[in-house]
Amino acid sequence: PSAGVNGYALPRPSIADDPGKPVVRILYGTQTGTAERFSKQLGNDLRSRYGDSTVVDVRDVETYKADQKLVTEKFVVFCMATYGDGEPTDNAAVFYSWLLKEAEAVESGGREPFLQGLSYAVFGLGNKQYEHFNAVGKKVYKSLKTCGATPIVRRGDGDDDGVIDDDFEKWCAELLDVLDKSQLVGTRVDHGAHHAAPICVPSYDVDVVRSMETREVAAFPSGSGKDVHSPFWAKITAVRELHTSQSDRSCVHVEVDVGGSGISYEAGDHIALYAQNGEAAVKAVADLLGFDLDARIVLSMPRSTSSGDSGRSSDLPPPFPGPISIRTALSYFADVLSSPHRDALLALSTFAADREEAARLAHLGSSLGKQDYAEFIGKPHRSLLEVLQAFPSAKPTIGAFFGCIAPRLQPRFYSISSSPKQHPTSIHITCAVVRDLMPTGRVHEGVCSTWLKRHGMGAVVPVFVRHSQFKLPQSPKTPLIMVGPGTGLAPFRGFLQERATQLASGVELGPAHLFFGCRSRHHDYIYQEELEGYVASGVLSNLHLAFSRDQAAKDYVQHHLESQGAALWPLISEGGAHLYVCGDAKNMAKDVHKAFISLVQNTKGCTGTQAESIMKELSDYGRYQRDVW
Ligand code: 2AM
Repeated sequence: PSAGVNGYALPRPSIADDPGKPVVRILYGTQTGTAERFSKQLGNDLRSRYGDSTVVDVRDVETYKADQKLVTEKFVVFCMATYGDGEPTDNAAVFYSWLLKEAEAVESGGREPFLQGLSYAVFGLGNKQYEHFNAVGKKVYKSLKTCGATPIVRRGDGDDDGVIDDDFEKWCAELLDVLDKSQLVGTRVDHGAHHAAPICVPSYDVDVVRSMETREVAAFPSGSGKDVHSPFWAKITAVRELHTSQSDRSCVHVEVDVGGSGISYEAGDHIALYAQNGEAAVKAVADLLGFDLDARIVLSMPRSTSSGDSGRSSDLPPPFPGPISIRTALSYFADVLSSPHRDALLALSTFAADREEAARLAHLGSSLGKQDYAEFIGKPHRSLLEVLQAFPSAKPTIGAFFGCIAPRLQPRFYSISSSPKQHPTSIHITCAVVRDLMPTGRVHEGVCSTWLKRHGMGAVVPVFVRHSQFKLPQSPKTPLIMVGPGTGLAPFRGFLQERATQLASGVELGPAHLFFGCRSRHHDYIYQEELEGYVASGVLSNLHLAFSRDQAAKDYVQHHLESQGAALWPLISEGGAHLYVCGDAKNMAKDVHKAFISLVQNTKGCTGTQAESIMKELSDYGRYQRDVW
């Protein structure tokens, strides 16, 4: 196979290259790995059913030119996740904007529908709690159609607020049903009526390096920090608690030194951190599985897949660097505090020495055991570590554990809470420390926030910056309306630092309203001195505070927004104000959006529909921006 472009492997030949052997291509846009997992699952199904399929990161499509490639395909499945405020995932960004632009050109008559030879199916992944549920899946589905392609099955809408695995399974059944009846993928391979599909346990080859002289390599090679492919090992130079001692929660201010890296950032960007698991979790896994934490390992793709169906290397994520100790591998690469997926339980079942445990795991991982999976794993948020504890005879090999049982620990993204105008080589983070009591009695501690709070100070951590659209307007005179309760304050602290620098150098500033909310003035009013200082100096013209639990009735930011309508509307309608919302997407951002609608409705005196379209227009012009999670 070709070495590919820019280090990405090129997909195997398409149907156009080898008419005898239909290849179904599955393209995925993934941020945290679910779309990738689903694609590989479907790839396996298609392979055992029709003989072949390839699973491709949608980023690869952009490197080999989607415009030339998609026209030669006969059938493609798209598994596309939506991220943040209705946006595409990082790996899908280029493909997505290309497709939308093409569809626009076709719609306006500037281009012929050019995908007429293509049949397709789209499964979108999103969360119904969010306003722009599955925006990306919906737009991909529609744009492909506009470009002339033919959908062969309804669009699948996976809802992560429910059981997304079930949504996918149901949709796949419909897809396979259509494919069976179509001529698109060749005829179905007959495995015989009673042939149960073998359980696939994709697993790395593992070399254990015995010599203790062999040096361990870093978990991540040191890079520039400019993107996900090259994190920079940055030193943490400050960790400071922001809540008062009266608070029963914790939120920390963190400073990351990025001096000497290739990182440049702007207020409003995001920083991602590759945190590590706590020592206790690492030790617990090693004890349960009999792994020697000091042993050094090198993972490689399996040299032979003689049985054909099991352990296909295409289902494995790229191996991490080696030799590294199992301690480092478990610390940086294994997500053991999230719930295991059904396929992980199936794989785990094959390693259980105890027959009852094996049967129970196999049941929980099967489609028949869905209900029991929901009760035992889903609802109580039982973690992989707890599952290993509950099934002590299940001891997967190192290769299988990292290959298909523990998902990769994902980098954590934070909205940057500083401005490079004040801190060119230091990036600030405002991080709520996640600590929740789970139904199983386990106290769930967020991996990254807990690590930052306990071990962050003075430590080094691989980081990279992701640039965002969440930016101050060009002119400092443009009025600002910022809404950021809780840690949603983060990017606005960056904006305010920027304005403070401008003010100090004599720049004339437009009005800036900040709506901040927290539980209590005395517990979690973060950065109080700074904010009040900004009001005194004129960096901030109005600070609107909502303390939700200092009185009997809830006081939220949106209540202040509505009561300030008379002052805010002229800024929006005549002043060209930019509106910003940052923080919780599920409730706050939705309610704030509604508050903006009624603000427009009441002050302008128009209908709700008209107010909606005014907000939509503001958003289209980049004057209503959201950084929500
Ligand atoms: P609560 O926890 O007392 O309900 C930061 O988290 C602040 O946002 C808290 O004061 C929290 O209040 C508040 N908050 C919770 N739900 C909200 C919503 N739907 N809209 C606005 N603020 C909300």
